[in-house]
Amino acid sequence: MANLFRVKPLSRLIDEMEHGERRLKRSLGRMQLTSLGIGAIIGAGLFSTVGTAAAGSDAHLGAGPALVISFVLTAVACGFAALCYAEFAAMVPVAGSAYTYAYATLGELIAWIIGWDLIIEYAVGNVAVAISWSAYFQELLRGFGLQIPAWLATDFRTAAQAAAQLAEAGGDVTTLAPSMQLAAQAMDLAPRLFGIPFVFNLPAFLIVMLVTVVLVRGISESAWFNSAMVVLKLVIIGFFLIMGAFYVKPENWTPFAPNGWQGISSAAAIIFFAYIGFDAVSTAAEETKDPQRDMPFGIIASLIVCTIIYILVALVLTGLLPYQLLNTAEPLATAFSALGMNWTAGIISLGAVIATTSVLIVFQLGQPRIFFTMARDGLLPAWAAKIHPKYQTPHITTILTGAVVGLFAGFANIGEIVELTNIGTLFAFVLVALGILILRKTLPDQARPFRTPWVPVVPILAIISCGFLMVQLPRVTWIRFVVWLAAGMVFYFLYGYKHSRLRKA
Ligand code: ALA
Repeated sequence: MANLFRVKPLSRLIDEMEHGERRLKRSLGRMQLTSLGIGAIIGAGLFSTVGTAAAGSDAHLGAGPALVISFVLTAVACGFAALCYAEFAAMVPVAGSAYTYAYATLGELIAWIIGWDLIIEYAVGNVAVAISWSAYFQELLRGFGLQIPAWLATDFRTAAQAAAQLAEAGGDVTTLAPSMQLAAQAMDLAPRLFGIPFVFNLPAFLIVMLVTVVLVRGISESAWFNSAMVVLKLVIIGFFLIMGAFYVKPENWTPFAPNGWQGISSAAAIIFFAYIGFDAVSTAAEETKDPQRDMPFGIIASLIVCTIIYILVALVLTGLLPYQLLNTAEPLATAFSALGMNWTAGIISLGAVIATTSVLIVFQLGQPRIFFTMARDGLLPAWAAKIHPKYQTPHITTILTGAVVGLFAGFANIGEIVELTNIGTLFAFVLVALGILILRKTLPDQARPFRTPWVPVVPILAIISCGFLMVQLPRVTWIRFVVWLAAGMVFYFLYGYKHSRLRKA
């Protein structure tokens, strides 16, 4: 029993990192980290999920213009969690993020659970981002009069939904949103495999492959590439805000909260997706020049910048159109195309493609590094910790992650994936906050270059606020999440428990 809660001593963690044969190259500074954070944060959440969060869907109530309150609510929860992440990231500047922190504090079993759970945040989250990328990319292509065959442009489930919507509309295709019009044709046009229509989101698959190739080549190049994209996406969001400000109609802001508190809180649980990523900064700890100083800066600065942007975008977006009309796959573009401003909508689509690409990069970068750390600890097979002789990147796990994320992105439905990602990530945040509380008791004298303020109040508030958001998510999401964790337990007892290097030591 005691074996399950073995803690990996902090001193050993740091020593292994500094003297081990398997280590990563230190090349990142404070601005690059902040840019990595912004790169990870602003993406599918802002460009895709805000629409259903404001307008609502079959599964949940919309916030209406009170979406701005949902953004503030979620920012507060993330702020508490960020303060906890910052203390950990500065104290344990080792690759692996929350997984590593848990190993040092809560023991091996909980560390494994977090590591397994982080797959939901990173890999599953990226499935949603790739799907959003594909939607906006196709929107851009349409602007140039190009069209991918319908059966290679969406997933089976969305195609089936679109076909049902079309039947309901009595076959009048013009009543559907443009992306759904296309999806509705997919079922008819698709080739059959054993009698089942084969529908595959090819652009979503291909973008993940492309990102994978870039990442195998090395982190320095990808960090540079990422910074350029972050600048571009910020410029285009600035463009959205300035153009939008001229067309805002204040009457669209009333009724402000059509579904009251319930609408606001269920939207908060959905747009939580938009904030995921500030914690991903911590996965680059081992590749940071001065992690103790720069980690807390990178995490907190990127969260603050993004919160300000989200609040402004929510205000402008809900001022542009009546909120009910925002329920599309590309709401920021819709807001302008509905006003007849197709060029502006096109530029925004380009911004979305850039933004989601940079999110993909950060998470495709983070996931292999978590696998790498777990393999170094013996909880995953040793081949996962191999480093490429020339590029010095964990190439095997990078390629494996790319293949799995790419395939799922080809088949999955974005709404379901977003909810699953949110519950998994919120759970990780709760465990990190718990870790801070425990570590202050068990290792009070450990050097803490950054201290979470007002302990235990802040970690407790992080647990309560993230728990609150988890409760807003539907039952089916909870069931999927529990099944995933159960599968992880089976894997641990069949493999990790026996191979743990800490246990053998
Ligand atoms: N926050 C990231 C996004 O919005 C995951 O795409």
